[in-house]
Order: sequence, then structure tokens, then C-alpha cells
Amino acid sequence: MRSVLRATAFLLAGLVADVSAISKITRQGRYLYNSTQDRFYIQGVAYQEQGTVISSAANAFGEPSSFIDPLSNGTACQRDLPFLQQLKVNTIRAYSVNSSLNHDDCMQLFSNAGIYTIIDLTLPVNGSIDRASPSWSTNLLNLYTDTIDAFAKYDNVLAYNVGNEVVIQSNGTDVAAYVKAAARDIKAYLTSKSSSALVGYASIDGTSDFKDPLANYLSCDPSNGNSGSTSIDLYGLNNYEWCGNSTFEASYAGVEGDFAGYNVPAYFSEFGCITAGARDWTEVAALFSSQMSPVWSGGLAFSYFPATSVQGQFGMVNISADGSTVTPLPDFDTLVTQYGQVNAPNTPLQGAAGSTSYPGCPAQNATWLASPNLPPTPDNAACACLEQDLSCQFTPEISNYTIVVGELLDAGCSLLAQAGGNCNDISSSGASGTYGRVSYCDPPTKLSFVFTQYYQANNRNPVSCSFAGNATVNGGAPSDVSSANAAATACFASVSAVFTPTSPVTASSSATGSSTSKSGSSNGALPLIGDLRVFWGLGLALSMAIASGVWTLA
Ligand SMILES: *[C@@H]1O[C@H](CO)[C@@H](O)[C@H](O)[C@H]1NC(C)=O
Ligand SMILES: *[C@@H]1O[C@H](CO)[C@@H](O)[C@H](O)[C@H]1NC(C)=O
Ligand SMILES: *[C@@H]1O[C@H](CO)[C@@H](O)[C@H](O)[C@H]1NC(C)=O
Ligand SMILES: *[C@@H]1O[C@H](CO)[C@@H](O)[C@H](O)[C@H]1NC(C)=O
Ligand SMILES: *[C@@H]1O[C@H](CO)[C@@H](O)[C@H](O)[C@H]1NC(C)=O
Ligand SMILES: *[C@@H]1O[C@H](CO)[C@@H](O)[C@H](O)[C@H]1NC(C)=O
Ligand SMILES: *[C@@H]1O[C@H](CO)[C@@H](O)[C@H](O)[C@H]1NC(C)=O
Ligand SMILES: *[C@@H]1O[C@H](CO)[C@@H](O)[C@H](O)[C@H]1NC(C)=O
Ligand SMILES: *[C@@H]1O[C@H](CO)[C@@H](O)[C@H](O)[C@H]1NC(C)=O
Ligand SMILES: *[C@@H]1O[C@H](CO)[C@@H](O)[C@H](O)[C@H]1NC(C)=O
Repeated sequence: MRSVLRATAFLLAGLVADVSAISKITRQGRYLYNSTQDRFYIQGVAYQEQGTVISSAANAFGEPSSFIDPLSNGTACQRDLPFLQQLKVNTIRAYSVNSSLNHDDCMQLFSNAGIYTIIDLTLPVNGSIDRASPSWSTNLLNLYTDTIDAFAKYDNVLAYNVGNEVVIQSNGTDVAAYVKAAARDIKAYLTSKSSSALVGYASIDGTSDFKDPLANYLSCDPSNGNSGSTSIDLYGLNNYEWCGNSTFEASYAGVEGDFAGYNVPAYFSEFGCITAGARDWTEVAALFSSQMSPVWSGGLAFSYFPATSVQGQFGMVNISADGSTVTPLPDFDTLVTQYGQVNAPNTPLQGAAGSTSYPGCPAQNATWLASPNLPPTPDNAACACLEQDLSCQFTPEISNYTIVVGELLDAGCSLLAQAGGNCNDISSSGASGTYGRVSYCDPPTKLSFVFTQYYQANNRNPVSCSFAGNATVNGGAPSDVSSANAAATACFASVSAVFTPTSPVTASSSATGSSTSKSGSSNGALPLIGDLRVFWGLGLALSMAIASGVWTLA
């Protein structure tokens, strides 16, 4: 008996030793803490090789059109690990990952080395909320949940970002409503998966008139209650204000003041001078000092890999053409020195950090446009139901249809308007807080909906269901719901405005899907079609092909 107990104790000790797992990070009040209740500061680097950037007037922000998943190649991660360790980083940020690849090697390697990851859920081109034509839609929800599913098994995901630089100026701030809806649904999804990863957003820096209300809006509670169910957990600011031998007063005092009363943890999701050459990273001393620790929980230096923008060339290392060797650049050596000297205050203690309070949302005004009434949760089952019941469907000949969707929506809505119809059902407004009932479906479903309305308006003349070869009559559409409106009424009848999303796999394997489990208590976010601004008028060009919100050097 005794020996059995001893063996068990030994085994347990072995397990415990084995589970020298990376410490779990929790949010308390407006700060982050590790499992021994010490304050956790993000001391990190951006970690993503630059994808293809096609320069053009339409791509002023240098957004890439392709990406290289930085966490899918164990050999490359192994190659970089010693350099990340020299930098003493505890966090890396990946801007785009591919959920169908295997990330075990990199994630395990980094976890063993005590390195957390911040994963952006967005992809280039059509994998993020499009600031020119925003919606929080099934295709984006599914992209985000697929990525979370792929990373859920790792213990070193600190946060998932639902967007990067989606709102970029003081006009167009209504887009924030869609970002906040994404944060709400991803937060619920993580909770349903028992994940403790934080929900983040990375903001462009800019004038206070949009930067401050944006931060406050993303962390507010529209009901001014204390649930915070629509609040982000972690706010990132991409801040490039410190150049050369600057000072706290010259570069950071303003932003410190702007965020003095902020309610959730904040950090610099990118930093590093972009207007001068080699960086000496003297901002590190300021960022991790007691002057800034009351507001900021560290930051991520941009960028480990080389990155080019109109301002120049950035990066701490060069990688040889065959990918085998890393050559540190001067930026690397200076950051090793600066990060090596970090000694951030361990205050306040976790017990003194308080709980998070969620204020009401910023008042709307001439520049802050986003409504506290958020878009509904995209419902895969409802959109799938609709698509199959529509009698004229978008059937692109090319698989990379993104490039034609904007043009076709524009053409379809113009034709529909001439025929006396409108595109209200697929339209939405984050400013008025009104969302057409089909507005959260993916672009192909929206197109099929518009095509079907036009086809009906033309008495189902087959010629009207062509759109230059992009549409086909759906002989399988049930005759009783064959009007687009009737199909939408049938498919959206029992949809709730807000619910916990399920992953597409789960949704399709349970025949009922997510919508039928809700008791039809549609709470008013869906109808109100008469109030919708008709902005799909004649000749208004949409640019759905150019996405926003993937990483750039602004
Ligand atoms: C928490 O952070 C402190 C300060 O960095 C460190 O000394 C301690 O080892 C950390 N605890 C764990 C469990 O990693
Ligand atoms: C993800 O990787 C798979 C397998 O290599 C590839 O087929 C797919 O195109 C990739 N997806 C994206 C969005 O790059
Ligand atoms: C916002 O303002 C900029 C410059 O003032 C202008 O170029 C841009 O077209 C405006 N965007 C919108 C959406 O109005
Ligand atoms: C709108 O409100 C924000 C604060 O939420 C403020 O910074 C901004 O200047 C205001 N805009 C106008 C035009 O008053
Ligand atoms: C940076 O500025 C401080 C005073 O602001 C000065 O003491 C220091 O020598 C300067 N360092 C460099 C490298 O210029
Ligand atoms: C790093 O790469 C850049 C661009 O290819 C090149 O100009 C530079 O000379 C390289 N630096 C080193 C130290 O290899
Ligand atoms: C993984 O990275 C290594 C080192 O850069 C490179 O040689 C190899 O080709 C990469 N493998 C893939 C599948 O990209
Ligand atoms: C992006 O568009 C391509 C077709 O161009 C499509 O296959 C893919 O599913 C789309 N991704 C998202 C997230 O909508
Ligand atoms: C779309 O795919 C076709 C065929 O694969 C290709 O020729 C075309 O260049 C692609 N277009 C874009 C914009 O990627
Ligand atoms: C589909 O629509 C696009 C955009 O209007 C157009 O360029 C194309 O010729 C159409 N037909 C086919 C078969 O793609």
C-alpha cells in the first residue's frame, strides 16, 4: 500500500514537473496577471513575413494581397527561436494564419519557451471587415471560428484580434459597429469553448477625435451594465510616435493622458519609428516605466521580419533566400539591449486591481457615427436556407469570385432600382444601427438575393437571370417560397439577433442549426426596413475587392 502511494506521488510529481506549462494569463481590472499574480507585460515583436503588396492608388495603406502563415513551419520557428530568446520576448503577434495548416510544432516550441501568441483572425483581401462596404457576415464569422478551432488546443494563445486598423480616420467611424459585433460574437464563442484567450483589437493611431471614442466604444457596454459581453478584453494601439532620442513628454504624454481612465488592458500592438532609419528603441524604457505602467501593459516592436512600406524598410533580421539563416540587423542588437533592461513595476498587485467596469458608449456626433445598436449575429443556417430557396443564383465561373462581387452587386442593385425595387434587405448602417435582414449573409448569398429579386421583377424571364453569365436559374427552388422576400421571411423567421455562434462544422452536423434553438424572440434589430438609408443607388461604385484591416505600415 505504502509503495503504491509512493509510486502515485512520484507519478504525480512527474506530471507536475511535466506540466511546467506556460503560465495562464488573466485579466483583472485594466491589467494582466500571470498565475503567480505578478503583473504581465507584453514584451513582444510582430512576427509575420510580408506578403505580396501591390502598390496602387487604391492601396494607399500598402495592404498585402497574400500571406505566409508564420506559425505553420516548425523549421522556420526553430530557426527564429534563439533570436526571439535573445530579445527576451514573451509574446509574438501573427497577422494572418491558415486554419487548415498544422501549427503544432511552432506553438509547442514557443509555449515551451514561455512565448505567447496574439493571433489576428483576419486574412488579406476578403478576410476582414471591409471599411468601404462593411458587414459582419457569415463568411467572416466562419473564418474567425475556424481559426479559433485550429488554435484552441494550444495553451499559449494570449489573445485573438478581431480586427486591425479597420477604422482609420474620423470619417467612416460607423464601421466600428461591425467590429464591436465581431468582438461580441467571438467573445461568446470563446466562452462556449471554455477558452480564456482574450478578445483584442489593434487600432491605428491618429487624431483623438476618432481614436479615443473608438477605444471607448470597443470597451463600452451599450446598456451601461456590468456584463461587458460586447466589450473587447484587450486594446492595442499601433503607435509610431517615438523617433530617435525622444522623451516621454515629447512622444507619449498625449496618449498617456488620452487613456488615463481606460477600463480594459491596453498595450502598443505595434511600435518603432517609421520615419527614420535604424532604431535605437529608447521608447522601451519609457513604455515599461512607472510613468506608463498605470495605463499600458507593454507592447510589440515592429517587426522581426523585414517589412517594406512607402516610408522605408523595417525589420530586425534578414533571412537568407533559402530560409536557412538569420542575419541580425542593427535594429535587432539595439532592441536586445533595450528589452534586456526592462524592469517594469509589479504594481498594482492583482488583489488591488479591482474589477472591470463597463461605461456606456460614446455619444454619437458629427464625427463619431457608430450606433450602440450592433449588427446581429450572423446565422449560417438562415443564410444557407435562403440561398437554396432563391430562384436565380450567383454561379461564378471563377473560384476567386471576390474580384467581381462588388461590381455585380453594384450592377444588380442599379438594375433592381430601375425596376422599382431596392437593396434594403442586403444593406445596413452602423450609423443608424439598422441592419437589413440579409445583410449578414456572405457576398454570394447577397448577390443571389438581389439577382432573384430582379428576376422576379422581370416576371421570371430567364434572360433576366444571367448577369453576363454570372447567374443561373435554380430549378430546385421550392415554388411556395420562390419569391426572394418569402424565402427570407421563411428562413429568418426564428432567428435571434444575438446568440452564441457555433462553428460551421457543428452547425451543419446538427440538422437544426443555430437559429431554431432560439425561440423566435427577434428583438427588433432585423426589421425596420423602411428606416434604412438606400445607398445602393445608381452608379455608386463599391470596392469590395479591396479589404481593410490587415496589417500595414501606416
Ligand atoms: C510571473 O511573472 C513574474 C515576473 O515576471 C515571474 O517572476 C514569475 O516567474 C511568473 N510566474 C510564472 C508562473 O511564470
Ligand atoms: C490554406 O492552406 C491550404 C493548404 O495548403 C490551401 O489550399 C489554402 O488555399 C490556404 N488558404 C489560404 C486562405 O491561404
Ligand atoms: C474621408 O476624408 C478623406 C480626406 O479628407 C477623403 O479622402 C475620403 O474620401 C473620406 N472618406 C469618406 C468615406 O468619406
Ligand atoms: C465627437 O465625440 C468625440 C468624443 O467621443 C470627440 O472627441 C469628437 O471631437 C466629437 N466630434 C465632434 C464633431 O464634436
Ligand atoms: C538623449 O537625450 C538625453 C537628454 O534628453 C541626453 O542626456 C542623451 O545623451 C541623449 N542620448 C543620445 C544617444 O543622443
Ligand atoms: C538585408 O537585406 C537588405 C534587403 O535585401 C539588404 O539591402 C541588406 O544589405 C541586408 N543586410 C544584411 C546585413 O545582410
Ligand atoms: C520551412 O522553412 C524552412 C526554413 O526557412 C524552409 O527551408 C522550408 O522550405 C519551409 N517549408 C515549407 C513547407 O514552406
Ligand atoms: C474570399 O473569396 C474567395 C473567392 O475569391 C472565397 O473562396 C473565400 O471563401 C472568401 N473568403 C471569405 C472569408 O469570405
Ligand atoms: C482568378 O483566377 C483566374 C483563374 O484561376 C486567374 O486567371 C485570375 O488571374 C485570377 N484573378 C485574380 C484577381 O486573382
Ligand atoms: C461576370 O461579371 C463580371 C463583372 O461584371 C464580368 O467581368 C464577367 O464577364 C461576367 N461573366 C462571367 C462569366 O464571369
